[in-house]
Amino acid sequence: MRRLPPKSSACKTFFRGERQTDPYYDRLWFFMTRKDAIIARRSVRTYTEEPLKDNQLLELRKFIGTIHPLHASIKININILSRADFAKNYRTTFSAKAAHYLVIRSVKKEGWLENAGFIGQQIMLYLTEHDIGSCWLGMVSPKNESAGQLPYVITICFGRADNSPMRRSPDEANRKLLHELVIGKISHPSLLDLLNAGRLAPSSMNSQPVRYITESTNIYVYRKRPLISINKLEDMQCIDVGTAMANIFVASDGKRIFVKEKNYPTPPSNCIYEYTALEYSEDMVADHESEE
Ligand SMILES: Cc1cc2nc3c(=O)[nH]c(=O)nc-3n(C[C@H](O)[C@H](O)[C@H](O)COP(=O)(O)O)c2cc1C
Repeated sequence: MRRLPPKSSACKTFFRGERQTDPYYDRLWFFMTRKDAIIARRSVRTYTEEPLKDNQLLELRKFIGTIHPLHASIKININILSRADFAKNYRTTFSAKAAHYLVIRSVKKEGWLENAGFIGQQIMLYLTEHDIGSCWLGMVSPKNESAGQLPYVITICFGRADNSPMRRSPDEANRKLLHELVIGKISHPSLLDLLNAGRLAPSSMNSQPVRYITESTNIYVYRKRPLISINKLEDMQCIDVGTAMANIFVASDGKRIFVKEKNYPTPPSNCIYEYTALEYSEDMVADHESEE
């Protein structure tokens, strides 16, 4: 019997973007890690009616309790609803019909949308890792807002995918190339995998608004503004920044920390500075938390 390569080397090959045609790589999906899910995840829009098992929902809730936020100081509320409860309380356009809906609400504070995207994308990677299909739903609005509820941000639908919730190679993702997203040269080879992870992140209408400038081992993250400024579109694109940073965070094994800096490389005029992804050190965490 052929032996599988060690998980880490297989993951590296996927990150380099080489298409795997050897069927024995299929078996890797049985051993999927969260990092593999960065490449494997795709939006699932058709689901079976069957709900997930109680145990799967319980494990998901436990995972949500352990998620690393972008801003620990921003209060967020995550509610998992059945399709019936979701339909009763939320209006949707072109929404996929799944068994479960995860509704994210948050206090409105600087970075609230990026924070929601950062948290939501980590949930999506968890779902893909566990062979559960999911899709962001930006075209949702609450029917009635009751007093005391946090402002609504976005919904993720999830459940048993009608077909595979995974793609087998990064080539299958319809994404811009790295040189279209990174302004200037990539300053350090160790950044390639992280930038590729950001590149593969989902975005509203696949608009891919996130841009990067690198210096040494730092990644400066920018958002390209839409040609026509519509509030809802800009809000979605701030969430997109969060999904890209979540992919970078997971690809770095949690070793990147995202901070707002006063000094950053000047971006092109249509880009707005968002965050800097720095390499993790204990001192930075202490500084970051004291600033919040
Ligand atoms: C913030 C956000 C909002 C989105 N809203 C919707 C939506 O309302 N309906 C939908 O079908 N897909 C939605 N998507 C999914 C994107 O269309 C999808 O990520 C993109 O086309 C890339 O495809 P992929 O996720 O399969 O790689 C959204 C994605 C993000 C990040």
